[in-house]
Amino acid sequence: ARGAAPGRDLAGRHVVISAGGTREPLDPVRFLGNRSSGRQGYALARTAVARGARVTLVAANTALPDPAGADVVPVGTAVQLREAVLKAAEDADAVVMAAAVADFRPARYAQGKIKKREGQEPEPVVLVRNPDVLAELSAARPRPGQVVVGFAAETDDVLANGRAKLARKGCDLLVVNEVGEDKTFGAEENEAVVLGADGSETPVPHGPKEALADTVWDAVVHMLNAG
Ligand code: CTP
Ligand code: CA
Repeated sequence: ARGAAPGRDLAGRHVVISAGGTREPLDPVRFLGNRSSGRQGYALARTAVARGARVTLVAANTALPDPAGADVVPVGTAVQLREAVLKAAEDADAVVMAAAVADFRPARYAQGKIKKREGQEPEPVVLVRNPDVLAELSAARPRPGQVVVGFAAETDDVLANGRAKLARKGCDLLVVNEVGEDKTFGAEENEAVVLGADGSETPVPHGPKEALADTVWDAVVHMLNAG
């Protein structure tokens, strides 16, 4: 039951978690990045280990201690994250995309450091789309019955945006949280709603990221055992 000690209900399962935020290089010293700390993904990894899973944690630019018992695969860019997640997903029972993946990357990488020049305006930065790992995984399902989970930070009509995103991505579960100043990014605590493709809606009250993580695993275990 929810709230009770979950026990080792992920024993024999392999779960893949992406965490952190990708960085898209402009030149050897500069990148486009985001504010994701990786804390929610690491909480997912720790709780999955505690529940008996084999855990692969694809970590993008995090500065957190490796969760004991998890295989950590460090990555930098969205393209690298895609490679690592798709490879680990081949034999995974569940994939949870907690990472903040850059939607765009600079079209051009300068091999040498970009320099300013006297009397000259800077070049505009041209961006191109990155692959959508969550949508790709949801469509491909490398393993039958695999459960795919996304995360979304939304503003304005958070639930409506979340529902639309869940449908667009084609994943099984979408964890939606509201962002605003001082909310979520880098915080120790989190408040969210877990939306299911079956129409279910599970609110998770403000609390530690481990509590949200355990609610996600409850839903994943439920789907794995039903499927
Ligand atoms: N995601 C992904 N690959 C991308 C972008 C996002 O796998 N290139 C995943 C994230 O890891 C997350 C989910 O998709 O689990 C939702 O990310 P979000 O940025 O909210 O979705 P987008 O489709 O990029 O929508 P938006 O335009 O609102 O940023
Ligand atoms: Ca995005």
